[in-house]
Amino acid sequence: MAAVSHLLTAAMALMVASSWLLVAHSADTNRAYSPCSDTTVQRSDCFSFGIAFASRTSFFYNGSQQLSPCDRRLSLSSANSQVAVFRPKVDEISLLTVNTSSFSPDNYGGYMVAFAGRKYAARSVPAFVANSTYTVTSFTLVLELKKGRLQNLYWKRDGCASCSEKSNFVCLNKQDCAIKISDCKNHGGSVDCSLGIQLAFSGTDKHLSVFNSWYEVENLRQYSLYGLYSNLRDSLTSQYNKIF
Ligand SMILES: *[C@@H]1O[C@H](CO)[C@@H](O)[C@H](O)[C@H]1NC(C)=O
Ligand SMILES: *[C@@H]1O[C@H](CO)[C@@H](O)[C@H](O)[C@H]1NC(C)=O
Ligand SMILES: *[C@@H]1O[C@H](CO)[C@@H](O)[C@H](O)[C@H]1NC(C)=O
Repeated sequence: MAAVSHLLTAAMALMVASSWLLVAHSADTNRAYSPCSDTTVQRSDCFSFGIAFASRTSFFYNGSQQLSPCDRRLSLSSANSQVAVFRPKVDEISLLTVNTSSFSPDNYGGYMVAFAGRKYAARSVPAFVANSTYTVTSFTLVLELKKGRLQNLYWKRDGCASCSEKSNFVCLNKQDCAIKISDCKNHGGSVDCSLGIQLAFSGTDKHLSVFNSWYEVENLRQYSLYGLYSNLRDSLTSQYNKIF
């Protein structure tokens, strides 16, 4: 009797597991996996976007016009650059991490740009990450969509509010909390200076349903989500050429 019920439980667990997988699979209807493709999404979808690391000037064409890293005119793939690709679930608050144990942003120009799309290309302004003195490790990125199409990506700053409790942080340019790079493990110090990027969605999906995660981030910010999310950790891809 005990053996039978045990078997039953196992079989049920299997069914539950496979139907869960089925649900998870069918809920993501977005077939655009490359960050350099165009798409419109609905709430249950996942969404691919990239973050490119390079010098500030390499994001500008002809010295003045900022283009998407997907735009071949920038020729970022031949510049000293790296790209990370993420595929978070739309309208969920995610914490993305870029592990810096074998990747040091100051060796790749020290700035990053978040981007997605090709014909409908959107990109953030370049954000300072690191130079030979300081590194910023904590960011909030908002993806703004209209009818499910990405319109804008922007870095949300908190004016150094989060520096105040931490004695080894300094406020740079009244907007970023930075730590001395010599304190970081990848520069011989003791702190893991991996980047944490808190992500939120604002605007509407393709059925005009309103995204809520941005409001949640805004309200939760003071409690810092960093301790709560450890699930979304995507790898840093080393070659532009694999994607572009
Ligand atoms: C690049 O900039 C130069 C000087 O500012 C200008 O003469 C030239 O037309 C620009 N080229 C393009 C392709 O925009
Ligand atoms: C980064 O990777 C190293 C080595 O694998 C690991 O010890 C460390 O915990 C990682 N840091 C984060 C923030 O994931
Ligand atoms: C690093 O960046 C900070 C903040 O912008 C600046 O004050 C400092 O001079 C920079 N250091 C170097 C070596 O470029």
